[in-house]
Order: sequence, then C-alpha cells, then structure tokens
Amino acid sequence: MGSDSYALKSMTNKITYLDDGDVCILTKEKIEFYNSKNKKINKEILILSNDENIADKGDYKDFMSKEINEQKITTKICIKEYIDLLRQDINIYNFPIKPDEINKIILIGCGTAYHSCATAKYWFEEFTDLQIEIDMASEFRYRRINFNKKNLYIFVSQSGETADTFAALDLCKKNNVKTCSIINVVESTIARNSDFVLPIHAGPEIGVASTKAFLGQLLVLYILVLKISKLRKEISKENYIKKIKDLIELPNLITETLKCEDKIKIIAKDFVKAKGVMFLGRGLSFPISLEGALKLKELSYLHAEGYPAGEMKHGPLALIEEGLPVVILAPRDKYFEKTISNMQEVIARGAKVLLITNESKNIISENLRFTLEIPKADNFLTPFLLTIPLQLLAYHVASLKNCDIDKPRNLAKSVTVE
Ligand code: M6R
Repeated sequence: MGSDSYALKSMTNKITYLDDGDVCILTKEKIEFYNSKNKKINKEILILSNDENIADKGDYKDFMSKEINEQKITTKICIKEYIDLLRQDINIYNFPIKPDEINKIILIGCGTAYHSCATAKYWFEEFTDLQIEIDMASEFRYRRINFNKKNLYIFVSQSGETADTFAALDLCKKNNVKTCSIINVVESTIARNSDFVLPIHAGPEIGVASTKAFLGQLLVLYILVLKISKLRKEISKENYIKKIKDLIELPNLITETLKCEDKIKIIAKDFVKAKGVMFLGRGLSFPISLEGALKLKELSYLHAEGYPAGEMKHGPLALIEEGLPVVILAPRDKYFEKTISNMQEVIARGAKVLLITNESKNIISENLRFTLEIPKADNFLTPFLLTIPLQLLAYHVASLKNCDIDKPRNLAKSVTVE
C-alpha cells in the first residue's frame, strides 16, 4: 500500500489523478472516468518519469544508506538542471509574480521540509530585503491568515502528497494568492496545484527518513534565493558569479564529507546507550540542529532536541547532566566564538560533546569527547555539509539498536492523513 505513484511503478508507468468526487471504472478492456455529477469525462494520463533504480538498493543494506551516499550525485544533477555554466546564470524563468513586486515570502512545509524552509529564511534575509516568514503547514492551515496578493507562498514537500501541506496550498488558492512549490515528485498533487513548480531532481526517495530530498530542497531554495536577489538587484554581479562558482563545487565537498562515516560509526557506539541527545547550533546551523534531532528520534527512537545554542541559559541548560551527549555545530562563521563558549558551558556541566566544525585546530578543550572536521566551504554552504554527519549518526545509532531503518515504527513515507 502507498500514496506515492512509485508504489505502482512495478505494474505501470501510466497514472491518472482523480479529483474530489471523481469515479473511475476500470476493467480489463477499458477505463472510464465520471465526475461528481455522474458526467463522463476525459482525464489526462501521465507517464511516470523513468527512474530505473527505484526499487533497487544496489549493494546497499537499505535505501537510507543508498540515499545518503547518492547525495553527491543528486546534488550534481540538480545543479546541472539549474545552473547555466556558460552564462553564469540560474535557469529560473516565468516566475508567477515579478520578484520586485513581492513584499513578503512565506515558506511552508512539514517535518524535514519545514527545516529546509527554516534554513532558507536565513539565506533570504542575508541576500534580499524581503520579509520572510516560515510556517508549519499543520499550523498555517488553521490560522487566521491575512492573505496578500503581494506575497509569494512557497510550499516545500518531497512527496507532494502531504495532507497538511496540500491543505495549506489549497487555502492559498482559495484566497487567490500566488503559489510556488519545491517538490521531488513532479506528478504529485501539490505540484499539479501550484502556480509554479521547482523540482529538486533527487530521484525516488524510498526510506521514510528524508535525506537526499532535504539536501535537494536546500539546494533549490538557495538557488532561488540567489536568483531572486539578482532579479531584485540586491546582489552584486561579482558576488552572484562567485556564489554560483562556489555552488558548483558543492558535490565535491559532499563527497569529501561522506568520508566521515567510519568515524561516525565509532561515535555512534558511544551515543547508543544514551537516554537522549541534544543538538546545538546558531544561525544557519540552528535549523540543521533541528534536522539532526529529528533524524535521530525518528530512526533510533532516542529522545533528541535541537536548540539554538544561545537559548540554553533560558531553560534547556537544566537538562545537562554527566554523560549527556551533546552535538555542537560550530562552523567558522560569525557565531563561532559564541557557540564554542556555549560548548564550554555544557562540557563544564558534564556533557559528552561531539563538536562538528571546519575549524578544529584552534580549539583546545580537555574534555571534548569527539571532534569531527568537515571540509571548509563558503559559510552559506555549510548547512549542506553539517547535515551529512548528522544523517550518518542517526543511521548508525539506529543500526546498532537494530531498528528498522527504512520503515521506522509508527511512521509513513507520505503523510496523506492528518
Ligand atoms: O513529503 P513531505 O516532504 O511533504 O514530507 C514531510 C514530512 O512528513 C517528512 O519530511 C518527515 O518529517 C520525514 N520523515 C523526516 O525524515
């Protein structure tokens, strides 16, 4: 059983989506469609994209490890789709509203997709003067929203079938505002109902825990930020070209980062006995700490919390006790010294710290349990690289606990009900 078109892939590549109230009569000989008024109608038959390796784990033990490793390829494919190397420009045209006519952007998603929205908020604020809001679709759909035609509503979803995200999109459509979706499954309901679609080109994601789709969402959001900033004349030409050049290097940096897996296996052995784990970061690393915590809880059933490191003194510091594992995300950015000082505070209270950074050589801390070095990169690209060790950590802790990696308990890949 499944709600994604992939579930039917072994039987057919032809798909038709029914609208509310539609009825389909399917026999060996023919197929007929009727609408809610019993009137015979014609429906479009879509041909599913031809992904050969859908149900094939290859040499991997499970889909999740395959999908984590594929990120070096999927990001490359996505960059190729959006970046015009010759013109040093981004291929996004025909936007539903002109970028200089937008006042505000509202980014909406659930779970991991919401975390990509939360990351993009920082990028938008750095590269544009736009007002940016983020919302969880399950909250947005029931709030009293002041819709505005000068706002752009962006929906992020891997499956494109998430009930809450679709309901939020539907609400926007009923209020005649412009919508855009960032989607993996381009035939999906959310994609078909949006004014504008930006595919992430990640290929089928089968593991319930979202990995390559998250990096794909981040990538398309970052590309969109740069494009909007350029169209609004808020980024200089030199900086725009520099950011594009940096982006092209990203798949190589991801390949390099994936080499941390052996070290993560050792760290996972230490984390597996914990009661819970905290993830701390500031700025762009904060939403990544939320994502690290979500991956660990859904895969290994450990209690895990992501927090902005600067919020610790306002309550969560009370949770720190001898031996509690804390993951500190501290790339060399404007928050670096502050985050390191937060790290010293939790170490002083007995926390067992894993520091993930691209600047380890100047950090002297006697009681630091583990340090994991990720490659140096442009500050705006560090969220991609920080994510990988966190995916691997969740994967290996769950493996040691013999959890079902691809199908964690109580969860479904596409959440098509509330
Ligand atoms: O298909 P979607 O991206 O709309 O799904 C949203 C969430 O259900 C999804 O990201 C969920 O949080 C993942 N299982 C997390 O790994």
